[in-house]
Amino acid sequence: MSKRNNRVALIGAGRIAAVHRGFIRGIAGAEVVAVCDADAALAETFASEKGIPNHYTSIDEMMSAKQPNIVHICTPPATHANLAIRVMEQGANVFVEKPMAMSVEDCDRMIETAERYGRRICVDHNRLMDPVMQKVHKLVAKGGLGDIVTVEAHQGVNPPEDDTGGHWSVADAFAPLYNLGPHPLYLVEAFSGPARDIIVQGAPIASDGVLREIRIMLPGEKCDAFVSFSMGAQPYLNHLAIYGTKATARVNLNTMTLVVERDRKLPKMVAKLLANLDPAAQMVQATISVTLAVLLRRMKTYPGIGNTIRAFYRSLDEGDPSPNSGFSGRENVRVLRAIESALRKDPPADQEREITWNS
Ligand SMILES: NC(=O)c1ccc[n+]([C@@H]2O[C@H](COP(=O)([O-])OP(=O)(O)OC[C@H]3O[C@@H](n4cnc5c(N)ncnc54)[C@H](O)[C@@H]3O)[C@@H](O)[C@H]2O)c1
Repeated sequence: MSKRNNRVALIGAGRIAAVHRGFIRGIAGAEVVAVCDADAALAETFASEKGIPNHYTSIDEMMSAKQPNIVHICTPPATHANLAIRVMEQGANVFVEKPMAMSVEDCDRMIETAERYGRRICVDHNRLMDPVMQKVHKLVAKGGLGDIVTVEAHQGVNPPEDDTGGHWSVADAFAPLYNLGPHPLYLVEAFSGPARDIIVQGAPIASDGVLREIRIMLPGEKCDAFVSFSMGAQPYLNHLAIYGTKATARVNLNTMTLVVERDRKLPKMVAKLLANLDPAAQMVQATISVTLAVLLRRMKTYPGIGNTIRAFYRSLDEGDPSPNSGFSGRENVRVLRAIESALRKDPPADQEREITWNS
């Protein structure tokens, strides 16, 4: 729990800002003093619905009038760097949504600003702090999987809707990748370490200008990692598997369930039977416990966002390092950029690029 008074402001009054607001409400010593959105009507409605006393369309006005010491940046990715820099210059620490920015250079500018003004950055790599992932971290830390051999993540990518209305998340071929790609990449990196190489396989861009299937090998400093993005596979993929020398952990991030598969020194037929029955029993138990947590309101949607916000505020109070510093955000963006450039490189002659990237 936060000990001192944190004056918090939100920039962006969209979908995820509402989630942030809900979690901040439950943190002792933290008060949301203002919200700012480029759209005046949205800012006003958000403030009145969420009980926030002040709303703005100008960041500078908000900063000078309300002087928040923490600003949450909940706007589209292309706006993160400039907004973060502006509020850090004006006295705030920054909790920024993923991806940290759209280029490594922008991440560096953010990190340099934080260092120059003595501010902290926390990037919302929220899935790392989902309760199911916290169990996995504990299991790995106590050696429950043995040495990690490889880690793999499968992520579904929302296809652009018919009526995109120009929403930033589907505004061009790579927007869904930058929107959803951060999650599997930071999840695997937590176990594999930073990628020493980034090997991308995927049809560059289909004639309709949409990214479909991408596979990426990421030989890491600690072990190899594999990430797959699929628009085609159903049901929507959101899985992580960590293969160790003693056991394998399988995480379903849609259902927030963990199954650990272990090799058992038992007669062959019994071992084969248990290889199915044991995971089935774990799945039933995990399903019951997640359902109860939701029904009893012990778990809200995006629980990892709440845990990350609380960990960041605690780190500010106690002078500890940020739970997800600008450097982890930068590494994530470095890999996203490498994937994008690999898919843009040398397109087959019959696949005209119809998409231009507005960087
Ligand atoms: N961590 C997660 O699981 C998660 C989930 C959803 C979204 N996100 C991230 O949150 C961010 C926002 O996503 P969203 O779904 O809430 O988007 P959204 O489109 O619902 O909301 C964005 C808001 O930002 C406002 N805005 C845009 N540019 C602005 C500017 N320069 N100054 C002030 N306001 C501005 C828009 O008017 C809009 O109201 C993105 O980075 C996205 O990747 C993270």
